[in-house]
Amino acid sequence: METTVAMSAREALAALVSPEGRTDPYPLYERLRAHGDLVEVKPGLYAAVGYAACDRALRDPRLRVQDAEGYDRAAPGWRAHSSLRGYADSMLYRNEPDHARMRRLVSRGFTASRVAGMRTGIAEMTDRLLDGMAELGGDGSPVDFVAEFASRLPIAVISALLGVPESDHVWFREIAADLTLALEGFTSDGLAPADRAMDDLAAYFVELMDRRRGSDDVLSTLAHVRDADRLTGDELVGNMMLLLTAGFETTTFLLGHALLLAFEHPEHAARLRADDAFAPGYVEEVLRFEAPVQATSRLVAEDSELFGRTIPGGSKILVILGAGNRDPKRYADPGLFDPERTDVQPLSFGAGAHFCLGSPLSRLEASIALPRLLQRFPGLAQAGQYTRRETWVGRGLDTFPVTIV
Ligand code: HEM
Repeated sequence: METTVAMSAREALAALVSPEGRTDPYPLYERLRAHGDLVEVKPGLYAAVGYAACDRALRDPRLRVQDAEGYDRAAPGWRAHSSLRGYADSMLYRNEPDHARMRRLVSRGFTASRVAGMRTGIAEMTDRLLDGMAELGGDGSPVDFVAEFASRLPIAVISALLGVPESDHVWFREIAADLTLALEGFTSDGLAPADRAMDDLAAYFVELMDRRRGSDDVLSTLAHVRDADRLTGDELVGNMMLLLTAGFETTTFLLGHALLLAFEHPEHAARLRADDAFAPGYVEEVLRFEAPVQATSRLVAEDSELFGRTIPGGSKILVILGAGNRDPKRYADPGLFDPERTDVQPLSFGAGAHFCLGSPLSRLEASIALPRLLQRFPGLAQAGQYTRRETWVGRGLDTFPVTIV
């Protein structure tokens, strides 16, 4: 790959979506950083690549997420897709005051104590999935860690939390995978499976809400909120869909990289086996080193003084979280994977008003799952080449063959 200093910001950004760039975007982030912490890529398009610039862009109330109104201008015709309408009804695609109202209401169902109460359940779900891996790989055959574990745990956990019965988990995983297509961006290509999934899911939630009225789970709590007329029916479904999908592949990607880095650093794998308390710091460094969501974006509503210059209204700022996480001004030797670092605050869950609502849950899942996996299979080893997801924003492994004996 051409990564000379002379590479323009525009070339570096374009190279990020090439196969080489998707495999290893980090040298390209340095090419971008050579132009500054906030780089003008072309008129109306900026890239934040410094830690402080990313953080400030996400916290600045003058910067907005692309919402329905914005998509009407940028991608007319998007409303024909129920999957896109579903996301547009969720908090991630709303600005204030709608966003704060939704987030407050959804947080009521998704409380810290409810998440913390999942600890035993997560350990049990982990052990069940490890039993499955033992059955498949007990004779030394390779097992795909992503298919058999990393993609199953997040769905099992979020389903349990939302109140989806176990008998529906397999169906739920398929629905979530189809819906995730629509999270890749508001383009209208190839969305038929996502639209079907959205329609099925909306009907399913309405029926489940009636069935579980009065139970102690997120859906029932939110259904009550809707009864009080503070979250419309569409908003309820949109936000349930967001909870289902926002934490699915992201946590799968986190688990995949957590294991890959453990294989690459056997000394850390040994500590994870011996000391559960090592896991949270390890997971934090995995999040910094390999952000599952490499970038998000914000729009500048009107001409604004930002980062010491005037950014014209209507401009888009790409906030490259994966670059901010490796800013040498924030972390010494940022390309070194070092779980012993102190003061690690990765940008991987965003920052500001839209800071990830599920961050405690995914941190908890990874911190429980990883030591249990390594303790259960002392001979766990990589068995051949993994494959990567062919996307830049979503960064993670698609398949990861391992042997367990
Ligand atoms: C490692 C796993 C995860 C990563 C890397 C991740 C990443 C992110 C990021 C970067 C954002 C902010 C996007 C922006 O500002 O444009 C976000 C928002 C969000 N995430 Fe996560 N997420 C993860 C897991 C989860 C889980 C498990 C859930 C729920 C069960 C979840 C639910 C949400 C929700 C609801 C929002 C929107 C918050 C808002 O708009 O106020 N995420 N996530």
